[in-house]
Amino acid sequence: MALSKLVALALGILLVATPQCTAAEEKTCTLHPLGPGVDDTDQVEAAIAACGHNGTTVFGEGSYNITRKMMWNLQNATVDLHGFLSFNPDIQFWLNPANTFRVVFIQSQASWFVVTGSDFVIDAHNTGGIQGNGQPWWTFFTSHTREDGDGRPISLTLWQAVRGVIRNFRIESPPFWSNTAAESQDILYDGMFVNASNTNPSFAGQNIVPNTDGINTYRSDKITLLNWDITCGDDCLAIKGNSSNIIARNVTCRGGNGIAFGSLGQYANMSDLVENVLLEDLLMTRIDSSVQPNMQNGVYFKTWDGSINGVPPTGGGGASGMVRNVTTRNVRLDRVNLPLHIYQTNGGHSADAPSTLNFSDLNFIDWSGTALTSTLVDIECSPAAGCRNITFQDYDVAIPVNQDARLICQNVDGLTGLDVPCNATGRPA
Ligand SMILES: *[C@@H]1O[C@H](CO)[C@@H](O)[C@H](O)[C@H]1NC(C)=O
Ligand SMILES: *[C@@H]1O[C@H](CO)[C@@H](O)[C@H](O)[C@H]1NC(C)=O
Ligand SMILES: *[C@@H]1O[C@H](CO)[C@@H](O)[C@H](O)[C@H]1NC(C)=O
Ligand SMILES: *[C@@H]1O[C@H](CO)[C@@H](O)[C@H](O)[C@H]1NC(C)=O
Ligand SMILES: *[C@@H]1O[C@H](CO)[C@@H](O)[C@H](O)[C@H]1NC(C)=O
Ligand SMILES: *[C@@H]1O[C@H](CO)[C@@H](O)[C@H](O)[C@H]1NC(C)=O
Ligand SMILES: *[C@@H]1O[C@H](CO)[C@@H](O)[C@H](O)[C@H]1NC(C)=O
Ligand SMILES: *[C@@H]1O[C@H](CO)[C@@H](O)[C@H](O)[C@H]1NC(C)=O
Ligand SMILES: *[C@@H]1O[C@H](CO)[C@@H](O)[C@H](O)[C@H]1NC(C)=O
Ligand SMILES: *[C@@H]1O[C@H](CO)[C@@H](O)[C@H](O)[C@H]1NC(C)=O
Ligand SMILES: *[C@@H]1O[C@H](CO)[C@@H](O)[C@H](O)[C@H]1NC(C)=O
Repeated sequence: MALSKLVALALGILLVATPQCTAAEEKTCTLHPLGPGVDDTDQVEAAIAACGHNGTTVFGEGSYNITRKMMWNLQNATVDLHGFLSFNPDIQFWLNPANTFRVVFIQSQASWFVVTGSDFVIDAHNTGGIQGNGQPWWTFFTSHTREDGDGRPISLTLWQAVRGVIRNFRIESPPFWSNTAAESQDILYDGMFVNASNTNPSFAGQNIVPNTDGINTYRSDKITLLNWDITCGDDCLAIKGNSSNIIARNVTCRGGNGIAFGSLGQYANMSDLVENVLLEDLLMTRIDSSVQPNMQNGVYFKTWDGSINGVPPTGGGGASGMVRNVTTRNVRLDRVNLPLHIYQTNGGHSADAPSTLNFSDLNFIDWSGTALTSTLVDIECSPAAGCRNITFQDYDVAIPVNQDARLICQNVDGLTGLDVPCNATGRPA
């Protein structure tokens, strides 16, 4: 204890320990930003090392300059993050594979900040979180090729984390995916604000923030997302392989591609199993097109096809799997292009084998609002797998006036609840 206190003091951290000598002492570490031009990474790592087990770490308000990759192992711990961890935007540094973690298996994605461990709360009190300093990244990648696995870092990665809470947390200007929950269980994210908005007028009206997803879930169980507000140029939520028991409630998606299941079926040697997903109280809303031109889908499902084209992270396909028991309820759309889309031909060519990844028990309940095109539903299930049991209830999305609705349903066995026969063109009653 004495030694760690000394070390902490030497580093400018206030470590307060209660004097009693029980097995677990209550430790609190308090820190403040060291100021402009100074690197805060050492003091942040020292505080988490001292108080990240059986303790509390309090970050005062302000900006903490983080210049290298960081992993927090939290055990029975609280972090009060009143300020922002601001990741130094040295693009070439972060793109060096040695300078990020590669713990997220899918597409070999990179992470500059990983939280692992068990029984922890990180509360950013709506005044803190992560400043990703994304603008120079987005500008840089307008003239460089973007590829999955190229090293653009995920802002906040939870990896092999159990019983964790992330509360009232803001991620400003993420260069790439904002959040990922990978190989984790029993995680609650309550209050997450993400904003990836280009402010460079040279790129007004273009989506220069692709891949700034709100969250990707992968190989994770019991992930709950409450009260999210996401502005991005890609998937607001992306539920990837082996995600189960996922709940998202009260989610606002501003711009981007919508809520995704997938992509699935990329790694031919592994099946992607997705089951028991409840998404409710969603608003998908188009924003000023000079900031973000995309508002593609309400909810969409995409799989690679049944052939293998290239190798991951950029190519792949050919995997089996299933998506089972998904309910979406109380979904409000504001000028989306396509409310509901299922397709199984991602990354494919016309002569490819069809996907063998199957869908069943998908429920679309209480949908309202507006679409900008006449296609109300576009469900294109693979002829090799098919979709079973798709139900609609109070699916009342308005299309542009005087247009005939198009409803496409291919290879579906058991579809109920639409006013107009699917695979048809016609005016809803
Ligand atoms: C945390 O507290 C538990 C329970 O009192 C104790 O067993 C464990 O050794 C403590 N861990 C640390 C790192 O102090
Ligand atoms: C962060 O620290 C680095 C390395 O010392 C420094 O170059 C950079 O200017 C600092 N950034 C800020 C915003 O203080
Ligand atoms: C958790 O840490 C607190 C001190 O903050 C300690 O009193 C408690 O025993 C620890 N519990 C476990 C299960 O380690
Ligand atoms: C997101 O950031 C942009 C640019 O700073 C700002 O104009 C916009 O209001 C922000 N969005 C939200 C929902 O706060
Ligand atoms: C929904 O989430 C927003 C934050 O994104 C919050 O302000 C609002 O109070 C929440 N609504 C309900 C009904 O909880
Ligand atoms: C599946 O293939 C990938 C390479 O595409 C490899 O990294 C991974 O270890 C393989 N997984 C299994 C379970 O064999
Ligand atoms: C998903 O889980 C199944 C069953 O445990 C396993 O065979 C498969 O490899 C997993 N897929 C991925 C992508 O981890
Ligand atoms: C379907 O998923 C819901 C969560 O949305 C869960 O409560 C229910 O038990 C699941 N049903 C089956 C049959 O697995
Ligand atoms: C769907 O795919 C899963 C996983 O590959 C498989 O276990 C199941 O039998 C398939 N269901 C149907 C109806 O084909
Ligand atoms: C479809 O739903 C019916 C009735 O709810 C159920 O009996 C059947 O098992 C379901 N089929 C599949 C493939 O999920
Ligand atoms: C629906 O139309 C597509 C072509 O657009 C066709 O492939 C499919 O067989 C049709 N399905 C039904 C049930 O008529």
